[in-house]
Amino acid sequence: MNLTTIILAAGKGTRMRSQLPKVLHHIAEKPLLQHVHDTAIQLENNTLHIVIGHGAELVKKTLANLRVNWVEQTQQLGTGHAVQQVSDQISDDTIALILYGDVPLLKIETLQKLLAQINKKTLALLTVNLKNSTGYGRIVRDELGKVLRIVEEKDAIETEKQITEGNTGILAVQGNALKKWLAQLNNNNAQGEYYLTDVIALAVADGFEIATSSPETEDEVLGVNDKLQLAHLERVYQLQQAQNLMRQGVTLRDPNRFDLRGSLEIGQDVEIDVNVIFEGENRIGNNVKIGANCSIKNATIGDDVIILPNCVIENAEVGANSRIGPFARLRPETVLATDTHIGNFVEIKKSIIGQGSKVNHLSYIGDSLVGKKVNIGAGTITCNYDGINKFQTIIEDGAFIGSDTQLVAPVTVGKNATIGAGSTITKDTPDDQLTLSRSKQVSVSGWQRPVKKEKL
Ligand code: UD1
Ligand code: CA
Repeated sequence: MNLTTIILAAGKGTRMRSQLPKVLHHIAEKPLLQHVHDTAIQLENNTLHIVIGHGAELVKKTLANLRVNWVEQTQQLGTGHAVQQVSDQISDDTIALILYGDVPLLKIETLQKLLAQINKKTLALLTVNLKNSTGYGRIVRDELGKVLRIVEEKDAIETEKQITEGNTGILAVQGNALKKWLAQLNNNNAQGEYYLTDVIALAVADGFEIATSSPETEDEVLGVNDKLQLAHLERVYQLQQAQNLMRQGVTLRDPNRFDLRGSLEIGQDVEIDVNVIFEGENRIGNNVKIGANCSIKNATIGDDVIILPNCVIENAEVGANSRIGPFARLRPETVLATDTHIGNFVEIKKSIIGQGSKVNHLSYIGDSLVGKKVNIGAGTITCNYDGINKFQTIIEDGAFIGSDTQLVAPVTVGKNATIGAGSTITKDTPDDQLTLSRSKQVSVSGWQRPVKKEKL
């Protein structure tokens, strides 16, 4: 079975109150339209067409990586008119499937169930029973329950408005039949639009059966029209992802306070505390604990790692058995080997920290190559930048850097070298020796503190 999917995405989305075309708003850092696309491409032998209008150039540019046929609807004259723009590209023997670009959470299983109902003389329609069907087209059935037509709310009479079965807008039917009905649409209705929903009555007139099915939950077919609905669907989506992870064995202290905006490959016995946000592509090993309020982006985290609360990690690798935080920041191109400790208020950028090394308090390590079993004392700063250029600091295995040291790069601290606290190191230091740069301490005898004069 060949499929032609048509995604409608030309609408303006006035109620979003935004310059951005509606379908480019995000759920989990991914445009609404891409969610729909990513679901649709999972269907086999599927050719995708996307109808765009408002902000067409920006939509195309933003989603330039999608392998779809972009079709422009310059005037938005209705859903039927939108599909008409693709009409001459629907071949007779394919199944045409209509989706909406602003309905992001529709599941592939729901589409498969819908498509399974198709045969030569059947149109498959996705409907939903609603507590409140306001705003939806209503499904009109005869006494025997056969679908006759869809009536839009603005055209409905009182008794029709009572109908709780709503039109999701999603349907599938043989291409040749759809093209025939599209050509017959008119705009004699309350909104003066070409309604796609009118194809139902035309199909019935042609002796087609309308087979209906429904999604498992209403959220699957909810469209985004404003920021409230966007926020609602974001939470629905996040909860689904949280539940998937819990099914894989992850412990989430609170699935309602977990966000994944990208992907997460995760081992066994991982515990994640509240308000942790993952972005991009992340891989986490076994037996990892992540404390509250961490933001983790494009990270690889080894087995048995402990990340204490309030850490920010981006484009970094954390070796097995390491301990990070609380309040640590790992910036891009940080690679921590195994058994490292990175403590509070430590920032590491574009540096490799060797096995068993520790940077425990209040330090900045940038553009550095740190060996094994190095201890970097509190307040150590690599001065890697002269305002124009970046320079490298090399700290060899076993070195001990005293607190409040400035390492002015380019500079190398030798193997097992010790740097005295408070030093400013501007030249390479030899292996095994103590180096310090510190003005001599003096005590002044007989010195007196100034005293305050009594006011008369
Ligand atoms: C439509 C259905 C209604 C259904 C509801 C479900 C029609 C006539 N009505 O109504 O039965 O219950 O969806 O949400 O089909 N679009 C275009 N070009 C246009 C008009 C719309 O691309 O000229 C796109 C929109 O961007 C949107 C989708 O089609 O993605 C639906 O349009 P919208 O205006 O929201 O339709 P409704 O009036 O809500
Ligand atoms: Ca709508």
